[in-house]
Amino acid sequence: MSKQTVLTGITTTGAPHLGNYVGAIRPAIQASRSGDVQSFYFLADYHALVKNQEPGRLRQSCLEVAATWLALGLDTDKSVFYRQSDVPEIAELNWIISSVTAKGLMNRAHAYKAAVADNEEVGNRDPDKGITMALFSYPVLMTADILMFNAHKVPVGKDQIQHVEMARDIAQRFNHIYGETFVLPEAVVDARAAVLSGLDGRKMSKSYNNTIPLFEPAKKLRKLIMKIKTNSLEPGEPKDPDDSALFDIYKAFASEAEVVAFRQKLLDGAGWGDAKQELFEYLDAHLAAPRDEYNRLILDPAHIESVLKKGSARAREYSSAVIAEVRAAVGIAPLA
Ligand code: TRP
Repeated sequence: MSKQTVLTGITTTGAPHLGNYVGAIRPAIQASRSGDVQSFYFLADYHALVKNQEPGRLRQSCLEVAATWLALGLDTDKSVFYRQSDVPEIAELNWIISSVTAKGLMNRAHAYKAAVADNEEVGNRDPDKGITMALFSYPVLMTADILMFNAHKVPVGKDQIQHVEMARDIAQRFNHIYGETFVLPEAVVDARAAVLSGLDGRKMSKSYNNTIPLFEPAKKLRKLIMKIKTNSLEPGEPKDPDDSALFDIYKAFASEAEVVAFRQKLLDGAGWGDAKQELFEYLDAHLAAPRDEYNRLILDPAHIESVLKKGSARAREYSSAVIAEVRAAVGIAPLA
């Protein structure tokens, strides 16, 4: 059997944080190195455009995300690493599949429904106020990303499962009308990938403004760690490790033996200040090397650009073959 194809997109919305690393980047990079699968990773800059209308920030985000993945050791020989907008076949496929996508299916997308619900909540007359076509048809573009490379497996966070199921529906519909063309993709949610707690104890997320960016300078990293919310137990009083954002973050990075030791320290009444200092030292030691690499890469956009260009050339070897097949299937074809 030929290799399975694994594909995932990274919306370029600013420098990644510890939660992104643990939940998505680390498992993807590990998979990229194994070589058991053919992996595609891409910067979803068209998806980022939906929410970001500042050109400078859009471009900067792309640079930061690419530099992060490269600094953390993504193997760009084994995996295909590219920018969505460098593969024009994706935009073409987006249009073609939108002609087999029921509008009703898009009406059910969680993100769109949430935007409508927000409008209703504040009493807007128009439930679609401020909602663009791009937000509405976001899942179609995501479908094009996935079907373009006939991905079997799509690693995503829980919030994206519905989109992958829509991709599957759309692929099925296309195949039904035009004959077997696309692989039916499946979402994979890594049950072990930790959902990291943020500074306030809620899930670490940009929308909660509670993140720890991956490559903050050591001093800033320490400052942020000191801000992690803890309870008011004094040094000497036993702390419950399982109810601690601090321990949660430590656990996502440390080895099993280190975790056991840290757990014991908290149970034995270590002070929060000391525990935070220990977490800081641990993270700082682990992040120092990729952070240096990141800082070097971010000053060398030309290098990153060339890596992405090579990636898109490889991606287009696949996408141009697939789009030719799709065009022929639907009858977008030369007259003679
Ligand atoms: N929408 C995804 C997210 O926000 C990113 C994404 C874009 C994606 N295209 C994709 C993920 C294709 C998987 C497959 O996380």
